Amino acid sequence: MTRPKIIAGNWKMNLDHIEGAALARAVRDRLSGPARPCEVVLIPPFTSLEAVAGAIEGSPLRIGAQDLWYEPSGAFTGEISASMLAALGCRYVLIGHSERRHVIGEDGTLLSRKLRAALAGGLFPIYCVGELLEDREAGNADGVVERQLREGLGGLEPGDAGRVVIAYEPVWAIGTGRNATPEDAGAMHQAIRRLLADLFGEPAAGAAVILYGGSVKPDNARDLLSREGIDGALVGGASLDPGSFAAIVSAL
Ligand code: PGA
Repeated sequence: MTRPKIIAGNWKMNLDHIEGAALARAVRDRLSGPARPCEVVLIPPFTSLEAVAGAIEGSPLRIGAQDLWYEPSGAFTGEISASMLAALGCRYVLIGHSERRHVIGEDGTLLSRKLRAALAGGLFPIYCVGELLEDREAGNADGVVERQLREGLGGLEPGDAGRVVIAYEPVWAIGTGRNATPEDAGAMHQAIRRLLADLFGEPAAGAAVILYGGSVKPDNARDLLSREGIDGALVGGASLDPGSFAAIVSAL
């Protein structure tokens, strides 16, 4: 089955809106030319979304946000709703990135609400899952990822589930320079797809886009991205350098 491919750059809490627009222009320029066989998504901080959207206007690049709140509006000081993101042109939103789970403390119930709010708001959630090093060492990586998937996606209609992009990001590989071997990543992607088949049926599982994230760099991208079942990458550190990010896109 041919699934869409996605390379997404998560800028995390880096760059102000002027620096962000400059990076977006640099990425756009490096990726101009023949159409790419994938969607390329820039995910800057909220404060840079408008400037980045302006910088990539007219190009095939897309923007996404790093988080949202699950209510549509109201007394939620500091929060941002799905409709606000959609109005800025966001197509994607990260939900449950490991830093939100493990640094900020978001739990499965909250993430499931956020995921539903993203879907209701017409966005494509990129739902991040992944085990800690201690989970992997205890042989429980599959169990942790399965729990996170059930918490986030359980109870969705297959049609809605089909709009969720999954990003498998082993926590021990994020920002550490250590990446999962292509074999381990490929095996986890297969396990995720099997669970999606159990939850939503074979057609939805076959169509699900599942990204790998965790220290994806130009020198390991090709090995990871050529694995059956790995449909693209969620890139952190290397997405802040236009040359590295473009090289990862070209590895697909
Ligand atoms: P990294 O981050 O590429 O810097 O490891 C990935 C992520 O956090 O999405």
